[in-house]
Amino acid sequence: MTPLVMAEPTHRFLLACRRQAVDRVPVWMMRQAGRYQPSYRAVREKVGFLELCRSPELIASVTVAPIDEFGFDAAILFSDILIHLPAMGLDLSFEKGEKGKGDGGPRIANPVRARADVEALRVPAPEKDLRPVLDGVRAVRAALRDRVPLIGFVGGPFTVASYAVEGAGQGFSRLKRMLYGDPGAARALFEKLTQAAIVQLQAQVSAGAQAAQVFESWLGELSREDLEEWSFPYLARIAEALRPSGVPLILFSTGTTSHLRPMAALGYDVLSVDWRIPIDEARAAVPGVAIQGNLDSTLLLGPMEVLLARARAMLRAAGPRPGYIFNLGHGIQPGTPTENVKALVETVHAFRWQ
Ligand code: CP3
Repeated sequence: MTPLVMAEPTHRFLLACRRQAVDRVPVWMMRQAGRYQPSYRAVREKVGFLELCRSPELIASVTVAPIDEFGFDAAILFSDILIHLPAMGLDLSFEKGEKGKGDGGPRIANPVRARADVEALRVPAPEKDLRPVLDGVRAVRAALRDRVPLIGFVGGPFTVASYAVEGAGQGFSRLKRMLYGDPGAARALFEKLTQAAIVQLQAQVSAGAQAAQVFESWLGELSREDLEEWSFPYLARIAEALRPSGVPLILFSTGTTSHLRPMAALGYDVLSVDWRIPIDEARAAVPGVAIQGNLDSTLLLGPMEVLLARARAMLRAAGPRPGYIFNLGHGIQPGTPTENVKALVETVHAFRWQ
């Protein structure tokens, strides 16, 4: 990785990641580019999801669209946490959902079930195997012209493993059976997924990503004991490997608010928390890291007055102490009215504590 000479961060999102003072609360939303946007759906009428993720021009256009439309303070690369699985040897597709029910989820035709399947996995070489993603990073930076910073991302080892092992649908029982029944195979799998996460994030930062988020969406499935064995050491290694790149590191997970203190010790600058904890409690529990979150994304589907009242209450509770980024507890849901997203961003930007 080319070492980067870091300019002083001036964007309010980057300042907040480093717990420095900001002029107003920075706001972005997970899944801010997606099916709730008519402009995104129009692109998807013409190209499949994976095709979109492999076109640098389309990546730039759908990544920048929500910045232009809603005024978010950060862009997140349009890609997916499973995008590298084909390069690792897994046959990934995204199923079309039932008609009228939206798109289906990811599917892997040759899931990882035994030690031999793990042995066959290859850690990708991003500039060779994931060139369109990195060209996408470069195209986004060119299109943004430094208006807002770009967040790169990968999936965390546990979350990616759950898709790689289960193959289709949501579930964790096959993966958990591997952890308990064949820990050697599981360790080898987590090693490869950790390496794959590290090289991808390093490559994204070298290509121009200005912050890096690890999506460990399903971490709440694990007990503390299993987190300590099967997650925390790998997440800490990812943070350690990215530390020299100089960009802020964000760890997102759900269902983990009873583990904030050990998670704050993993080397990330920011913890992104779900809606299951009051924001002031989260901030007070881990004062040494910035907090990102945590409005329930379902509020965006409801009446605007309720949404905005709850957002203002959350901002008041978060308080003026530096180190807070407004976000949702999980991603924006399909069907969210765009006027609600716009009003929410305006409300955050207009908010003052006095
Ligand atoms: O705007 C953004 O947030 C950036 C793009 C982004 C996508 N996926 C695009 C996407 C990001 C950051 C992700 C991460 C991701 N992908 C996660 C972690 C975040 C989370 O929500 O927990 C996970 C678990 C995945 C795996 C994945 N990709 C699933 C389960 C699905 C199908 C269900 C769904 O949410 O739609 C996808 C598809 C996907 N990834 C879509 C988008 C916009 C929908 C595809 C479409 O256009 O049909």
